[in-house]
Amino acid sequence: MLLLDKESYPGKKGGVEGARPSGVRRWLLYGLVFLVLILLSHGVYGADEAAEEGKPMENPHWQEGLCGECHEGDPYKEVRFREEGDFIALCNRCHEKDSVHAYIHATGMIPSEKKLGRMPEDFRSALYRGDEKGRLTCIVCHNLVYQCRKEEFWRRERNPRFFRGGPYGHRTDICYKCHEPKGYTRMDPHDMINDEGEILTSKCVVCHRVVPDVDRALGIEDVEFKIEKNLERLCRRCHYDIPLHPGTFISMAGVTEKTRKRRKPFSHLRVPTSAVLKRLEKTTREKDIIIPLEPGTGKIFCATCHNPHERGIQRLRRADRGADNPQRLRAERKGEICLMCHEL
Ligand code: HEC
Ligand code: HEC
Ligand code: HEC
Ligand code: HEC
Ligand code: HEC
Ligand code: HEC
Ligand code: HEC
Ligand code: HEC
Repeated sequence: MLLLDKESYPGKKGGVEGARPSGVRRWLLYGLVFLVLILLSHGVYGADEAAEEGKPMENPHWQEGLCGECHEGDPYKEVRFREEGDFIALCNRCHEKDSVHAYIHATGMIPSEKKLGRMPEDFRSALYRGDEKGRLTCIVCHNLVYQCRKEEFWRRERNPRFFRGGPYGHRTDICYKCHEPKGYTRMDPHDMINDEGEILTSKCVVCHRVVPDVDRALGIEDVEFKIEKNLERLCRRCHYDIPLHPGTFISMAGVTEKTRKRRKPFSHLRVPTSAVLKRLEKTTREKDIIIPLEPGTGKIFCATCHNPHERGIQRLRRADRGADNPQRLRAERKGEICLMCHEL
């Protein structure tokens, strides 16, 4: 399971425990920390100045001195908000609209009656506090009060993202505060053919703008998607907890001099080098498997390695491959998908 290292997901703190620096590298790291501390001591930036100057912004959460990043006036006396109390704009001043979170969950919609009925009281009252019409805002799932009041700061260790009603043992537990567990698992969009063998075209439009014509489509250029850019988002909507994979662990620990120097985790979602493209041309022909790249950018994306369709949907054998493999990998076994692009 080394390939899929959830622990090194950059969104998680302390994820690189296994890759402790040693010797010279440790001193380099101390030097870096020292440098960063010096740089930080040169001034505390608010988000606006930070954004203008491209500097890292201050984290206002769980802090005493930075109430003013969200509140106007003195919140100890009277609670007023910046951005005229628009709780989405308030957060998006620092958290970009187009961040990873946009794939975790959308905001701004009014929950169905069923969801409203299911929601615990504290979620429902936060819903209406956040927006008088009851549209979903950030404060429904994130309880800001935990990070506002000093007496609540003890929660930080176990509930760093201040989830309402948290901490949660399992990532999806908070989802079931509003979603029905049954409905959620039944939503599997990869299940595309019913027991009678009919194609469920309603499933196609989870990802495609129009139902693809399976008799005519010869490749990815012949189908349209619900979104045009950054197709990763097609999958992140549901697979929001999938870390940067595969190979992140290996590259965090460092395989070569170059990778050891780099401190950022490696992501495969990039334009392949010409050497890799050349190899791909050969391996895909030999093995008769498609390894599609993102249209427009030529980047590796989720469906490069995974076939999201059910077996039998694709008329072309090369496009059908992998549909019923474990983890939907286009090549038979885990290691084999790596060999499509990497030479041993
Ligand atoms: C990241 C933005 C943010 C920061 C920083 C922040 N607050 Fe808040 N605060 C909010 C939001 C949003 C609410 C409304 C939450 C709700 O209604 O669920 C709130 C609510 C409050 C409330 C009313 C809720 C209650 O418990 O009665 C108080 C008081 C408060 N904040 C004080 C503070 C103080 C003091 C600080 C600084 C130590 C602070 N806040 C920092 C966003 C923030
Ligand atoms: C002044 C800028 C600023 C504002 C306003 C702000 N945040 Fe943040 N927030 C940050 C920074 C900086 C971090 C740390 C990011 C990191 O570690 O990558 C952060 C982290 C977080 C985290 C993750 C905490 C963790 O430890 O993993 C959550 C959840 C979050 N913010 C929610 C909110 C919500 C909800 C609002 C609106 C009520 C909000 N933030 C408003 C700057 C801001
Ligand atoms: C429906 C619930 C829900 C709503 C609404 C919501 N979040 Fe979150 N948020 C989550 C969950 C769940 C996670 C943790 C995802 C994970 O474990 O990777 C999260 C994580 C985060 C993080 C940390 C991300 C990271 O990569 O570490 C930030 C920052 C954040 N949310 C900000 C916001 C902001 C800003 C809004 C409003 C625009 C918002 N959230 C609305 C459920 C929600
Ligand atoms: C506070 C309530 C709330 C929570 C918690 C919540 N959701 Fe949602 N979710 C909604 C609302 C509202 C919609 C819009 C559609 C509707 O109301 O039926 C929605 C829609 C969705 C959709 C689009 C498909 C659909 O059912 O319409 C997905 C996928 C989804 N949520 C996943 C999640 C996941 C994953 C989590 C946990 C990280 C989560 N939700 C947590 C309220 C919530
Ligand atoms: C979970 C998202 C998702 C769903 C659901 C989905 N597709 Fe796709 N489809 C994709 C992606 C991503 C590609 C591009 C990669 C590829 O070619 O397989 C694609 C490509 C295709 C192609 C071109 C294949 C080729 O030769 O390269 C056809 C045909 C197609 N889809 C048909 C369908 C049909 C029919 C359905 C409904 C039964 C469907 N898809 C449902 C994501 C999806
Ligand atoms: C509407 C939600 C949804 C979307 C969108 C979605 N998936 Fe899935 N996916 C699921 C569900 C549900 C399952 C089956 C349950 C499970 O194993 O988690 C699943 C299973 C998988 C698996 C198999 C996991 C395993 O352990 O065998 C892979 C791989 C996968 N999806 C890839 C993708 C890719 C690639 C895309 C985008 C083209 C995508 N999914 C889009 C909901 C979704
Ligand atoms: C370069 C190839 C590659 C790319 C790109 C890729 N994956 Fe994977 N994925 C794999 C491999 C290999 C595994 C099996 C790893 C293992 O079991 O250790 C896997 C496993 C998975 C699983 C099953 C994990 C589990 O816990 O059961 C899901 C779901 C998944 N990937 C979704 C995605 C999504 C979503 C993306 C895009 C953000 C993506 N993959 C991009 C190769 C890839
Ligand atoms: C679709 C092609 C493709 C597939 C499939 C693929 N890789 Fe890669 N991989 C790349 C590209 C492109 C790079 C970056 C260019 C380079 O260094 O050659 C890369 C780089 C790497 C690196 C070096 C990361 C660093 O820190 O520089 C590792 C480790 C790696 N891949 C592991 C894997 C593993 C393990 C698998 C199979 C589970 C896999 N790759 C599958 C294309 C692929």
